[in-house]
Amino acid sequence: MNLLLLPLLLLNISRTWCIRNDCLPVCRCHTLSYGPFESLRLTHVDCSDQYSNSGGKWYNASIPKYLPLDSISLDLSSNRLNALKPGMLHGPGYTTLTTLDLSRNPLEHLGPNVLSGLFYLDFLNLSHTGLQVLDLRMLQGLSLSDLDLSHNHLQNVSLDTFVTGRIGRPLNLRLSDNGLTSIIRHTGGTKLKLRFLDLSQNLLSVVPSHTLQGLPLRHLDLSENFISTLPPKAFDGLSELIHLNLRAMRGQLSSISHHAFSGLINLHEMDISGNPALAVLSPDIFQGLHSLRELRITGTAHETASAAPTLCTEYGPDGWMDCGNIGDFP
Ligand SMILES: *[C@@H]1O[C@H](CO)[C@@H](O)[C@H](O)[C@H]1NC(C)=O
Ligand SMILES: *[C@@H]1O[C@H](CO)[C@@H](O)[C@H](O)[C@H]1NC(C)=O
Ligand SMILES: *[C@@H]1O[C@H](CO)[C@@H](O)[C@H](O)[C@H]1NC(C)=O
Repeated sequence: MNLLLLPLLLLNISRTWCIRNDCLPVCRCHTLSYGPFESLRLTHVDCSDQYSNSGGKWYNASIPKYLPLDSISLDLSSNRLNALKPGMLHGPGYTTLTTLDLSRNPLEHLGPNVLSGLFYLDFLNLSHTGLQVLDLRMLQGLSLSDLDLSHNHLQNVSLDTFVTGRIGRPLNLRLSDNGLTSIIRHTGGTKLKLRFLDLSQNLLSVVPSHTLQGLPLRHLDLSENFISTLPPKAFDGLSELIHLNLRAMRGQLSSISHHAFSGLINLHEMDISGNPALAVLSPDIFQGLHSLRELRITGTAHETASAAPTLCTEYGPDGWMDCGNIGDFP
């Protein structure tokens, strides 16, 4: 949670909101007032889809030079912004932003210093922006807790890009649907507090075990990649992992080694459904998963033959099973 919002918890919250008439012509501003004298005001500035919102009359998509001084979020999505330069996101009112939405713009590239100065930025949406490479210094000085980079053209990502030099808060990172063939990392795991990582719908052919090792991940989504085998210790050093999604590999996940999941002592939920080539699901693979409670294996060849169904009970309409103490088996 952002520090700016903390006072709200202390106030006896009464909120009112209004639409401001001092907003920029192509934008819409909504101000929420809090507290007994409405002393705290937070403004959401919506400058998305300026073309449609100007009644179809063509406006060159514009980035406001200044914002109301109590601005907390800025939505610039669905415009035709393509060349963001340092200084463009800098004027009065920008410093207090906690949310910035640049999604659905043909940015393609984002250089260093374009975002610097947005000290309180917490959530940044860069999905559907055609990004092909990430500049290593693009996020320098920021302290994000949520970054959406999904639906772009990134083939190669270095996790070092997300070590920003600020004392980091835990980061949720979305990289789904990018065409990623590899992710790499040079810095030690301690510097990167990655908590949630969505790598679904990419072109990964192996679990990037070495890159992920030692990260404090709680949630890892590798579904719809091209991973065909899980070797021993594929998730080594991920002892904090709670959710693991390996659903519907496009390259046909066909074998899971004994000890593939070793060390996942906190894993609570695992989805390996939709992998029809998965023929051998030996009970050994569940050994040591002491915290496993929920498992989904519908659509695997051994749906009925493995030890799992005998130890788990079906619940819910979508194939999830309740697995009590499967980790203690045998
Ligand atoms: C939009 O940009 C074009 C080219 O940069 C310029 O010629 C035109 O006058 C601008 N239109 C408006 C409404 O600002
Ligand atoms: C980011 O923007 C896209 C497109 O505008 C939207 O679909 C998506 O939900 C947003 N991401 C988050 C995490 O809200
Ligand atoms: C991926 O990154 C590596 C190492 O930085 C580099 O050698 C390679 O050319 C990159 N590949 C692509 C497709 O960008």
